Amino acid sequence: MIPQRTATSSTLTLHVNDTAHTVTVDHRATVLDVLREQLDLTGSKKGCDHGQCGACTVLLEGRRANSCLLLAVAHDGAHLTTVEGLGDAEEPHPLQRAFEERDAFQCGYCTPGQIVSGVGMLCEAAEGHPSHATPGEVLQRSTGEPAELSRAEIRERMSGNLCRCGAYPHIVAALEDASGHVGPRSGTAHPASGPASDRDSDRDSDRDSDRDSASDAAPAR
Ligand code: FES
Ligand code: FES
Repeated sequence: MIPQRTATSSTLTLHVNDTAHTVTVDHRATVLDVLREQLDLTGSKKGCDHGQCGACTVLLEGRRANSCLLLAVAHDGAHLTTVEGLGDAEEPHPLQRAFEERDAFQCGYCTPGQIVSGVGMLCEAAEGHPSHATPGEVLQRSTGEPAELSRAEIRERMSGNLCRCGAYPHIVAALEDASGHVGPRSGTAHPASGPASDRDSDRDSDRDSDRDSASDAAPAR
């Protein structure tokens, strides 16, 4: 299709969850608005609309991005993954399953952004990218091996996703459960031998310790 452009709008193609969508967008429209209002993909939420809360997180070419900060007109041909593209009720992504099993939400408004961001974060860790919380000796070794995800690492790496309900302890637990089940870059789930089977035995004790340490989980913001 020949790109059409007026003074205020352009026609472009976004590849969302492996489906190409050709849309005419107002030059002021964000990717978030196009997803929600033109493509009817309402999983990505508008929280702050200012890049502060992470509720709108999508994967852009496999990397986490706040879709409220992306002008759609600047992303012709981009490949995006939204929470709808990760899995569904019949075949959930391991992280979606972990959120459900860990009861990692209350109102659920932040949850799609948390899950998409979590998948991106686990990819980054699988690729060996360090974070601000990565110990100095690990940085110096610079092995390129998958990063070890302590709770401090998870909290730091997820610090761009806020949860007004304060479900952080269970969100961190869900991410711990799903780590190792997300491969580098693509965000694809490794065939889930199931985080569930491995973690059933330690779940109860983890929950107890989460409860005990609820206040120290606050830095997950
Ligand atoms: S709605 Fe995009 S960061 Fe808050
Ligand atoms: S579950 Fe309500 S904002 Fe996170």
